[in-house]
Amino acid sequence: MTRGLIGSVALLLVFDCVILTAQNSKKTPTSQSRQWWQHAVFYEIYPRSFADSNNDGVGDLNGITSKLDYLKDLGVDAIWITPFFPSPQVDFGYDVSDYEAIDPMYGTMADFNALVAAAKKRGIRVVLDFVVNHTSDQHKWFLDSKSSPASKHRDWYIWRDGKGPGKPPNNWTSTFGGSAWKFDPTTSQWYYHYFYPEQPDLNWRNPAVRQAMMDVTRWWYKRGVSGFRLDAVDTLFEDSSLKDNPVRPGKSVYGDFLQEHKYNTHLPEIHDAMRELRKVADEYNAVLIGETWTDNIDQLNAYYGNGHGLQLPMDFLFTNVNKLSPAEFRKQIAAINAASGWPTFVISNHDIVRSYDRYGDGQHNDQIAKLMAGLYLTLRGTPILYYGEEIGMKTTPPTRKEDVKDPKGRTGWPNDKGRDGQRTPMQWDQSDNAGFSKGKPWLPVPASAKTHNVAGEEKDSDSILSFYKKLLKLRHTNKELLDGSYVPINQNDQNVLSYLRVHEDQAVLVSLNLSASPQKVNYELKKNGFASAKPLVTSGKSSTSGDFVSLDAYGVFIGQLVR
Ligand code: GLC
Repeated sequence: MTRGLIGSVALLLVFDCVILTAQNSKKTPTSQSRQWWQHAVFYEIYPRSFADSNNDGVGDLNGITSKLDYLKDLGVDAIWITPFFPSPQVDFGYDVSDYEAIDPMYGTMADFNALVAAAKKRGIRVVLDFVVNHTSDQHKWFLDSKSSPASKHRDWYIWRDGKGPGKPPNNWTSTFGGSAWKFDPTTSQWYYHYFYPEQPDLNWRNPAVRQAMMDVTRWWYKRGVSGFRLDAVDTLFEDSSLKDNPVRPGKSVYGDFLQEHKYNTHLPEIHDAMRELRKVADEYNAVLIGETWTDNIDQLNAYYGNGHGLQLPMDFLFTNVNKLSPAEFRKQIAAINAASGWPTFVISNHDIVRSYDRYGDGQHNDQIAKLMAGLYLTLRGTPILYYGEEIGMKTTPPTRKEDVKDPKGRTGWPNDKGRDGQRTPMQWDQSDNAGFSKGKPWLPVPASAKTHNVAGEEKDSDSILSFYKKLLKLRHTNKELLDGSYVPINQNDQNVLSYLRVHEDQAVLVSLNLSASPQKVNYELKKNGFASAKPLVTSGKSSTSGDFVSLDAYGVFIGQLVR
């Protein structure tokens, strides 16, 4: 048995103090003062892999439209769709060759309009992915830029002379391997690319670039878009004197010398650009979500820009906790709660191994999937769900190099197998291609589709999907979960992560067993003025009796404290 609040005199008064403080505090806003994106549940869709309406093996916009009822029923308020703009697909859409059109493989502008209208009808907002750092090398701006040093768009990208024949301007390496510079024989200069060579970096110091990018956002806002997820913002600016990055010992999976990306990431000028984008977003009540890989809370705070920067910079610090450690989670949650803006929680996305595999122990993976939902969907902040998390999709990387689609998986093989494993087709049912497509899917459907799919889990009240639905339903109506402050309790427990969500004089208790053995926690409810904790959502055989909450291995108990 674990003793909850007992053992710490200070904690004996915790419940009442916390609730009284919350009651009097101006910091606990009412639901009315919240912005739409603070109460919304976001869902990331990788369109190639979600639903294929024309059976060519690649998902499309009409496929997404056909699944809106599913998303509504799940409890999704906004979808973020990763890039579906015209693109040579070197980086599967993150190499955009036209920001204001739809790639025919995903559909037409009419399909897009129909999607936005159908989503609106269901109260679902549509957020797009805006690749701000770079374009495709096939974008007309770059084609013009590389044509001549005197071209109109020359200075829209970063061109420099090399240090000598075959020698790039400095030692910067691309995050996908090799030098970050590519020599172009037409003008005998090098251009800079933080990602693949087919993704030349834009020059954000050029006012014409900034203007063009602001205009892109307006163009889409006018078409009913509710915001953007801004891609790779950390790398928007580079040191203009091109200082070499400090080299660190060791080599990367691509065989490059390791380096600290000191002079080409996290430059302070990023925040002026964010503020500019935000000004435009505010005209349309839109949200800006940032792909912000921050090393610490100061960097994250800079992105909030005192309320004038990004509303939802993603907190990836959380994705660094790759083990079920209550202490580590407490530390990260406390840090984000002390940050200057509204937290954004992410546990999986199209670039990282799925949470099912990162946290799963191979035996209790389904319980652990519910446990993780119990965590990131009950914290103070906005959650972003990655498609398939709600059914327990598993990362399924290619087993042979020749099957790899993501180029960096070929360069990095076998140490880095690329990102195909987390981008496999959505598992809708038990049929051959999991109901994703009648054609051959662009990536193979994982074997787990037979056991983990929407149709099967919808029928099972104990499935991961049913758990997500119950939890999201609660999140939408429970004021404590929507607006309450986060109050960690029982902080020395090695197994159970416990916290209250407190709003006015009400509190919800969240109790999460991060261990493989059953736990019983004494929360001393009576001493704290509560008769009981009424179960709201639980997993496994978790239950409560008097002061105690009993949790199965990896069990979840979420209960309303009743006086
Ligand atoms: C972001 C995207 C990733 C892409 C990269 C380059 O990190 O999430 O998928 O490869 O930017 O655009």
